[in-house]
Amino acid sequence: MSDTNVISDPEVQRAREVLANARRPFAFIGAGLSAASGIPTFRGPKGAYSDPAIVDWVHVETFETGDRAGMLRWYEERKDDLKKVWPNPGHYALARLGIQNSMSVATQNVDGLVEQAALEEGAMVEVLHLHGTLSEARCHNCRAVYPASRVDYNDSPKCRMCDGPLRPNVVWFGEELPHHAWEDAMIAAVHCDVCLLVGTSGLVYPAAQIPESAKERGATVIEVNPAETALSELADIRLVGKAETILPFLVADEG
Ligand code: OAD
Repeated sequence: MSDTNVISDPEVQRAREVLANARRPFAFIGAGLSAASGIPTFRGPKGAYSDPAIVDWVHVETFETGDRAGMLRWYEERKDDLKKVWPNPGHYALARLGIQNSMSVATQNVDGLVEQAALEEGAMVEVLHLHGTLSEARCHNCRAVYPASRVDYNDSPKCRMCDGPLRPNVVWFGEELPHHAWEDAMIAAVHCDVCLLVGTSGLVYPAAQIPESAKERGATVIEVNPAETALSELADIRLVGKAETILPFLVADEG
């Protein structure tokens, strides 16, 4: 959808009104939101998972019994790549929705770009990190947390408390989601009246249960995605297009 099409699209206008009148809006976001910032999504022809090695590097077994050094090298590169990327118009719009409408945001992304956009907009938005964050490292054994900027994953870093191996503070397949983020996101989802889904395939559980719960409890679901997803059938309003193009038009006093 081009900018002119977005402005005149009645579904975009409807979504904007629904969001402007929402009492407890909630957003559930995924990798597509950060695609325009240059961070590849996971799935799809150009997704990170088209490299089979990367599929191994998101599993806890690889860290415990496989190519730990290769895995950590990839995370060091991802950490470095984050220094070169910036929020895109989708992040800024979501941050403004968060600030103006007190919208809760739960993300599966580990890049911190929504918070960065909010800070640049001059306010804080609480973002619930369902899959952790690359900005932190943690001990695989005792879970002590360190700023990732102080850790070089290429050096087999060790915990100062227990000498256990350090790793990024992200969630890998085979691990549980962080308890607080999960609980708070579920609470926000079951109490929200509008649930905005942005840039997620909705294929990964348990995270995808969160928007399902919002729908079950009667929320109006708005999906922003250029493709049909596993969650599209939940959507009352489907906005077929890119987050960076559509989200700026959903902010009430803009567009
Ligand atoms: P996916 O890679 O599964 O899906 C990305 C979604 O973004 C797809 O539905 C695309 O159509 C959509 N998309 C692409 N470009 C977009 C754009 N410019 N604007 C809006 N949408 C766009 O990513 P996630 O759903 O985030 O977990 O993946 C969920 C989890 O799977 C990730 O957190 C990660 C992965 O395995 C772990 O590593 C535990």
